[in-house]
Amino acid sequence: MLTLVLQNHREYLRLMLLEPSLLSALETPAFIYREAEIFRRLDLLSMVRERSGGRILYSVKALPFTGVLDLIRPHVDGFAVSSLFEARLASEVLRLGGGAGSLHITTPGLRAREIEELAGLCGAISFNSLEQFRRLQPRLEDRASAGIRVNPGLSFLNDPRYDPCRPFSKLGVPLDDLARALAEDTGLADRIEGLHFHTLFESRSLAPLGLTLEKIERILGPAMDGLRWINLGGGHLLESSDEAWELAGMIQDLRARRRVKVFIEPGKAMVGKAGSLVTSVIDRFERDGKAVAVLDSGVHHLPEVFEYQKTPSVAEHRSDGPFECLLAGCTCLAGDVFGEYRFAAPLKIGDKLVFENVGAYSLIKASRFNGYDLPAIYILGTDGRMGLTKRFGYEDYRRQWTAESL
Ligand SMILES: Cc1ncc(COP(=O)(O)O)c(C=O)c1O
Repeated sequence: MLTLVLQNHREYLRLMLLEPSLLSALETPAFIYREAEIFRRLDLLSMVRERSGGRILYSVKALPFTGVLDLIRPHVDGFAVSSLFEARLASEVLRLGGGAGSLHITTPGLRAREIEELAGLCGAISFNSLEQFRRLQPRLEDRASAGIRVNPGLSFLNDPRYDPCRPFSKLGVPLDDLARALAEDTGLADRIEGLHFHTLFESRSLAPLGLTLEKIERILGPAMDGLRWINLGGGHLLESSDEAWELAGMIQDLRARRRVKVFIEPGKAMVGKAGSLVTSVIDRFERDGKAVAVLDSGVHHLPEVFEYQKTPSVAEHRSDGPFECLLAGCTCLAGDVFGEYRFAAPLKIGDKLVFENVGAYSLIKASRFNGYDLPAIYILGTDGRMGLTKRFGYEDYRRQWTAESL
């Protein structure tokens, strides 16, 4: 079924292009999600699943929009969540889809008051610390399978802002601490059914995963014998079938070596490339000899541009274009600037510009700063039709910001 998209490459390319006629009809700012790209990723992941026997969860934190969860749900084994609200929403999507699939959760933010509900909603809970485990695991009462998130202490990223293995990390139990606890408390191993780790960010290589597994198995050794499952987290971009094959091989080997169920929980790989933000130029002027274009969007719609000082890719940018322009956001923040780009012609008011590959971690982090609304959400179907699936308005803003008494 899904392979239809990959088999017909020309058709796929057509669906990936945001044609000018589609764009001109669009009210901006707007996110567009392309079904064809989501299905291409699901195709790759189905291949991983079929080849390796591994299980695929979509990490909903990247984009919890149910219009997209509904597309993904039939092709995955469930969802990975990080809070009670994500768990509730994802379980509604599973229930409406017929009930198949399970939820895995791990978070430093588990609240004691939520554990009973989470135990009922989730198939597995990976506790983030031994302290969290000791306090809350006894309350699961055999409802959810208990695991531990480990921190393998191997850094593959040079930016501590998104390196879960940074010094003094709050994420996961250091391997040596877990090995010591298992040696001191012989009953502990019986209560830990699974291991979880997540250490990568936008990785294009499977080598870090191999090194991580090797270290975990070396340090925990026979203590892993009673495990029922291992969750390898997300963090891979999985852009090519070569990467998918390699991942499948690693999962297959791990399953054979340890006789466990193996899960992965990609987020960005599933929706990152599928999403674009379409904006319009609403003002144009020169400052200190540089052309500046103000857009009807801003870094409040793409917060990672500001958080990580990224320059997002713009479809209309031409590296050899004669006209340079600074693209600026519409809010009062002086640093609300996307960056400098080059264009074939000077930008005019009303021109539409498309930020590409912004499908993950954008909308979920987006805000209504300065009272500018969240972008509408469209889905471009594999039939070439574009459907408006969500539009926000003043009522949403008002509901968010009015006191209970009003
Ligand atoms: C525990 C966990 N699993 C999965 C993911 C998904 O990662 P990505 O979107 O990079 O694949 C994250 C992202 O932060 C995470 O923290």
